[in-house]
Amino acid sequence: MGYHEIYDRWKQDPEGFWMDAARAIDWDRMPSKALFDENAPLYEWFSDGMVNTCWNAVDRHVEQGRGDQVAIIHDSPVSGVTRRITFVNLRNRVAQLAGALRAKGVEKGDRVIIYMPMIPEALEAMLACARLGAVHSVVFGGFASSELAVRIDDCKPKAIIAASCGLEPGRVVQYKPLLDGALERCNHQPDFCVIFQREQDVAQLVEGRDVNWHGFQYGVEPAECVPVEGNHPAYILYTSGTTGAPKGVVRSTGGHLVALNWTMKNIYNVDPGDVFWAASDVGWVVGHSYICYGPLIHGNTTIVFEGKPVGTPDAGTFWRVISEHKVRSFFTAPTAFRAIKREDPKGELLKNYDISCLRALYLAGERADPDTIEWAQKVLQVPVYDHWWQTETGWTIAGNPAGIEPLPIKIGSPTVAMPGYDVQILDEAGHPVPTGELGAIAIKLPLPPGNLPTLWNAEDRFRKSYLKHFPGYYETGDAGMKDEDGYLWIMARTDDVINVAGHRLSTGAMEEVLAAHPDVAECAVVGVSDDLKGHVPVGFLCLTKGVERSHAEIIKECVKMMRDRIGPVAAFKLAVVVERLPKTRSGKILRATMAKIADNAEFKIPATIEDPAILDEIRTALQGLGYAR
Ligand code: COA
Ligand code: AMP
Repeated sequence: MGYHEIYDRWKQDPEGFWMDAARAIDWDRMPSKALFDENAPLYEWFSDGMVNTCWNAVDRHVEQGRGDQVAIIHDSPVSGVTRRITFVNLRNRVAQLAGALRAKGVEKGDRVIIYMPMIPEALEAMLACARLGAVHSVVFGGFASSELAVRIDDCKPKAIIAASCGLEPGRVVQYKPLLDGALERCNHQPDFCVIFQREQDVAQLVEGRDVNWHGFQYGVEPAECVPVEGNHPAYILYTSGTTGAPKGVVRSTGGHLVALNWTMKNIYNVDPGDVFWAASDVGWVVGHSYICYGPLIHGNTTIVFEGKPVGTPDAGTFWRVISEHKVRSFFTAPTAFRAIKREDPKGELLKNYDISCLRALYLAGERADPDTIEWAQKVLQVPVYDHWWQTETGWTIAGNPAGIEPLPIKIGSPTVAMPGYDVQILDEAGHPVPTGELGAIAIKLPLPPGNLPTLWNAEDRFRKSYLKHFPGYYETGDAGMKDEDGYLWIMARTDDVINVAGHRLSTGAMEEVLAAHPDVAECAVVGVSDDLKGHVPVGFLCLTKGVERSHAEIIKECVKMMRDRIGPVAAFKLAVVVERLPKTRSGKILRATMAKIADNAEFKIPATIEDPAILDEIRTALQGLGYAR
């Protein structure tokens, strides 16, 4: 069957489609049905099944004779180490870790925060939680203490598992002081913290609270897999919304297993045993779905890469990893390719490696610009598939179903909706717009298995953020269009979320940091186009009356505050002092217009603008930063 037949089959019989997909998973009790719609518009999948994620990702492969297959390759150019862990080793290590967590009181439903760099132990920690039915929440290492603290207070973990440090090119990032700093700020305190000591930095342990990763596992009984209900939360992953409070995206166990398993062949076109590589970080959704769970559930070898596309040691690193480990399908963010192209525009370094094992490149996380796609196609000589999804969905909304049938690529479009997604383009009033016209992208409810059922501790926010604007639909927050062939085109966010080097950040959260500076009366942060990172944030500061201090000093302090409060990953380096901000008569700051001025893009002066002259002041300020020229 081709893509259209499969998509139609899903549309005609979603229940049958997803029950069939569910049969590829080992259940302790098969669910009686797929969709549970009693609480619509809140939906659940496979709720009355009983299942364990770790069993499906690890143990069952050992049972089925894949025990000696490599499950995880740790390739770490920043530490000079390459390690391989087979499925049987992984099973033993995870069972032991889970046993030690259980011995210290971690049970089904308890939350565990994981704050670790790109080492296999991060995946082992995730899988050990899954083995017990504990709910993990991984926090990206590039976030500062206060971001970690917000997540600790929101999900109230019984335990925190951290590493002593992460390795960024040229510097060791000490995680332990960041963790200690976060715990000093928190109201909630975990019962205990497990610290994985790396040789690059051995952290001080806090007596009575911290235990050593190896020491606390000694002599305990390994844990068996604990079956959980299909709707039991597998994990919480915080992502940026429009305010400073991140949204805790919940993933339910059954749908997560079924959907990810389905994607590995149908989208990424790999068979069990093949090597799959997603060059991202376990702290992001790509890391959850495609470094840890997806490949392991499907019996693939996954690569945990601790390095950067450039500088570790050079722009040929990706090609080395692909050739050395025989990668079949490779997934990364367009920004990584822009970084490589900038260093090695002709792809000369590729000549040193045989990458004939590679079948396709998959790009996601931000808009894939045509230049980058064309360059990647030219140097790699394999299809380059853009695909569009979000932390909330956990897997592809629109992509090219290469494992079913590769569809013709239209550069700039992530191709077509996957089965499970009825994607519509709506106008402000919620009516579908004609083909080829721009509108808000919405997905008809119910969302498919694997998508978020709600936000952690925030059902109202879930309804308000995603379900309220267009009743009967999930609002994606992206704007775009559908063409006459059903291809989707994703153009921009409709909210204050920006994408910096494939990392999703909230300009609202950054504004909250700037507003906390004692000399700042009002501020705005907008994302302006950047050749490498896609977007970078720029801050506009209106100072409190009577402040006479040097603007450069104030800006320097703001940049430092952002690094300390959100983290280096915000890449906030540019700000400018202005007299006034452009607003509508109702007081809404015209951020989108400011971004368009910065990018020299065409824009219409909004009819409701309070004072159009302010736009000229903004243009002049941006010119001072090298934009709007
Ligand atoms: N722990 C601590 N700090 C981290 C970190 C981590 N896990 N990850 C990033 N940082 C820091 C970096 O050291 C950098 O700090 P600096 O300002 O002191 O230099 C800052 O956060 C910004 O990092 P990054 O976004 O990685 O930018 P970069 O300039 O170092 O590198 C790219 C640019 C394009 C090479 C890099 O962003 C990249 O590889 N992107 C791939 C995209 C990706 O994986 N996206 C995930 C979604 S698919
Ligand atoms: P995240 O939740 O971090 O994965 O970010 C999701 C957001 O990134 C989406 O809502 C889009 O705005 C953007 N995005 C992700 N993939 C793509 C893509 N292929 N094309 C355009 N935008 C994308």
